Amino acid sequence: MKDAKTFWNQIAAKYAKQPIADMDSYEYTLARTRSYLKPTDTVLEVGCGTGSTAILLAQNVASMTATDISDQMIEVGRAKARDENVQNLTFQEVDVLNTGLNGEKFDAVLAHNLLHLIEDLPTSLAQISQHLEPGGVFISKSVCGFGQNAPLKFRLIKTLIPLMQFLGKAPFVAFRTIEDHEAAIKAAGFEIVESGNFPQSPPSRYVVAIKT
Ligand SMILES: C[S@@+](CC[C@H](N)C(=O)[O-])C[C@H]1O[C@@H](n2cnc3c(N)ncnc32)[C@H](O)[C@@H]1O
Repeated sequence: MKDAKTFWNQIAAKYAKQPIADMDSYEYTLARTRSYLKPTDTVLEVGCGTGSTAILLAQNVASMTATDISDQMIEVGRAKARDENVQNLTFQEVDVLNTGLNGEKFDAVLAHNLLHLIEDLPTSLAQISQHLEPGGVFISKSVCGFGQNAPLKFRLIKTLIPLMQFLGKAPFVAFRTIEDHEAAIKAAGFEIVESGNFPQSPPSRYVVAIKT
């Protein structure tokens, strides 16, 4: 299996062209996220990809730092932000497992479609936590495991993933249950205040958590 940076760098250009799979779910969770953000907030996004969500949310906050392990994703994001003249958004190459960022604190941390791609979830959550004060908000959306009742398409993809990884065509995917995923967030010192599946299938778990 390729390391995360190599994998995501190689598909960055293709990823940038992919349409959002479920626009209703995307817009619903974007609106819920906006409801937790204030115009004075400083926000960190980890695993920002090509920055589409960061660009949309930057207009609602004071400043946004969008980070990703892939410099190719970041490059696309920077170009889009420049084209759209988004002034309060900066991009930085950062691994969620070792964020650095000089221990900088933010009012909110966002992780969209990232945590299910991380093998060492406790370390990534500890890194995220160090960028929040108690009371700070951590909002994530992560694909979780699905049972035997899931549509055949998803069960087939899951079966094929080890082969795709062997061929370098898929990244690490955790397939954690919703229970295990949320237990890890709580164990990292967060209280979950809102959660739900958007979309339902395969469950993309939207979790809003407050650092205790
Ligand atoms: C499925 S994409 C999601 C991108 C974006 N957040 C979105 O919702 O469209 C996953 C992103 O996580 C990034 N990523 C993977 N492993 C990472 C890590 N260890 N640290 C930071 N980013 C990582 C990838 O480079 C990729 O841009």
